This record gives sequence, C-alpha cells and structure tokens, in this order.
Amino acid sequence: MLDIIRSLPEQLKEATRLEIPDIPVGNYRRVIVGGMGGSAIGGDVARDVFNDVDFSIETIRGYDLPAYAKPNDTLFVSVSYSGNTEETLSLLNQALERGLSIVAITSGGKLADISREKGIPLITIPSGYPPRGALGWLFGAMAMALEKAGLLEGVVDAMERTAGFLKSVEGELGGKESLSMDLANKFYRRLPIVYVPADMVSVALRWQAQINENAKQLAHINVLPEMNHNEINGIKHPVDVVERSWVVFLKDRDTHPRILRRIEITRQLIEESVMGMDVVESMGESRMERIFYLIWLGDFVSFYLALYNQEDPMAIPRISSLKDALSREG
Ligand code: PA5
Repeated sequence: MLDIIRSLPEQLKEATRLEIPDIPVGNYRRVIVGGMGGSAIGGDVARDVFNDVDFSIETIRGYDLPAYAKPNDTLFVSVSYSGNTEETLSLLNQALERGLSIVAITSGGKLADISREKGIPLITIPSGYPPRGALGWLFGAMAMALEKAGLLEGVVDAMERTAGFLKSVEGELGGKESLSMDLANKFYRRLPIVYVPADMVSVALRWQAQINENAKQLAHINVLPEMNHNEINGIKHPVDVVERSWVVFLKDRDTHPRILRRIEITRQLIEESVMGMDVVESMGESRMERIFYLIWLGDFVSFYLALYNQEDPMAIPRISSLKDALSREG
C-alpha cells in the first residue's frame, strides 16, 4: 500500500495522457458524479479544487438520481473503479433512462461493458489498484473529461504542476520522522477527530475513509464554521471517548479569516476536554496542490496508523464480505 500511496504524483501525471473520448459539449449547469467509496471521493475533490467555476459539481452516493438531474443541463459522470458497484450501476441506468449526457470512468467490469454497448464515452484507467489507491487516476480522468466537455481549462498544466509539487514534499509528508508518522502516533489507540473549513470537506472525507479502510479505525470529522454551532458543545461526553481523542484542524492560506479566528477560539474552549490538538496548514501554490497536499498527508497517516494497529492496509474484509453477500442474493 505504501508504494501505491507514493504513486499519487505519477498517477496525476500519467492521467494527463489518458485517452479522452469526445464528450458532448453542452450548456451544463451541473455535473453529477455517481459513485461510492474510493471512486466517489474524486467527485468531492473535484468540487473543492474547481471552486471558482460557474457550474455545480455534486457527488451522489446511493441508488437514485435527484429529480433535478435533467437532460441538457446535467453532465453525469459515472465512476466505479471496479465497474461493478451496484449503487453506481443503478444511477447509471437512471441516467440512461433520463437521457442525460454521460461519461464513464472505470478500469473495467460492467460499467465498461454497458458503456461500450450503449455508446457512452468511456475513460479506461489502469486496473490493479485498490479503488482508494487510484485517486490520481480517478480525479485526473474526471478533470480531463470536464475539460473535454468545455467546462474547465488548464487541467493538464495544473495536474503536472501538482504532481511535481507533491514529489518535492514527499519526504516531509510521508518519510521517516515525517508529519504523517507523528500524527499516526498521536491517533494510535485514540479517536482521531479532523476539522476542516467547509470548502475543503473532501479532505476530511478522504482522511476518514482512509483511516477506516486502511487502518481499520474509527475517525470523526466535521466542518467549520458549522461545528461551532453545535458540535463544539458536544465535545465532552462520553468522557472516556472524548478524553482519548486527538483533534487535527486543517487549514489553508485562503481559509476565511473568521474561520481562522474560530479555530483559535475553538482550540481554547476544547483544550481541557481532549487529549491533544494539532493545526496543519496546507502547502503549495495552486488550490489543487494545496488540497492534494492535505489529502496525501492523510493517506500516509492512514498507512502508518495501519502499521501501529497491526492491520493489513490492503485488506477490506468486511466491505468484500458485504458485497459478496449482496451479490449472492442477486
Ligand atoms: O476503497 C474501496 O475499496 C471502496 O470504498 C470502493 O471504492 C467502493 O466499495 C466502491 O467500489 P468501486 O470503487 O469499485 O466502485
């Protein structure tokens, strides 16, 4: 898994060379990404990275498309690394029934078969990764698709720069005696709590999922400023759990100044209740670089935490058992 995590910059770079089919250029007001787990997160990351565009990017995790997904104004991106995830295929069927413009991203499976059969533009990414280890491919393919659909520009340059930047910080993020080692050590046998500004929620979602899947550990996340209006009051009970929690606040140079102030006051207010706290600021020039910096940090943290927990970061036995049980039932 460590090599897979380390391959993120190469994935982003290689993804710029993916073969992107023609995608209908339309007057899209929204992009709906349909996917689950490690495939869905690319949609959340795209929304947070491309936050200055005049269309919305939304990820649907589930079986049903929202009623507002309509032809002409919606581009539907169907993403499943394996190509066999039933919720994702259900969304794809609905998108086909509604006549939405669709693009598919997968390494194979039924999603690839259906796309070929129905003439859906298909982006094929390499197989052999765990889905969560293919974020560079999944995000990269999506960004390239949105550019082809006329919605984004400068994607290749941004991804190449991000890849180069990540390589330059690899040692400090994921090497021995790195920030990720330090955080994994603090999270070991504790409840990790990750707070992020709301415009970077994809980063917290990724930290949580990676800690769950790789380290087999629970993690709690929330966003600022919303948690200042409810959760801040709850960081007290159950005392046994809260006093064993380690809180990490993630922030960015563009974080709203009032959110930065809120982080400082929140820290003072919860200091007595939790075991410890850290504040980590993103690094990098572009927003893409800064978001991937924090994501990559969380990926490394989850790997080292898996080692502390003596868990195999590649194995996802309960996810696999659940999929098997459901597929046996048909
Ligand atoms: O990381 C994982 O393995 C899961 O979160 C999967 O991504 C999720 O179950 C969906 O599968 P897929 O990505 O193949 O559609």
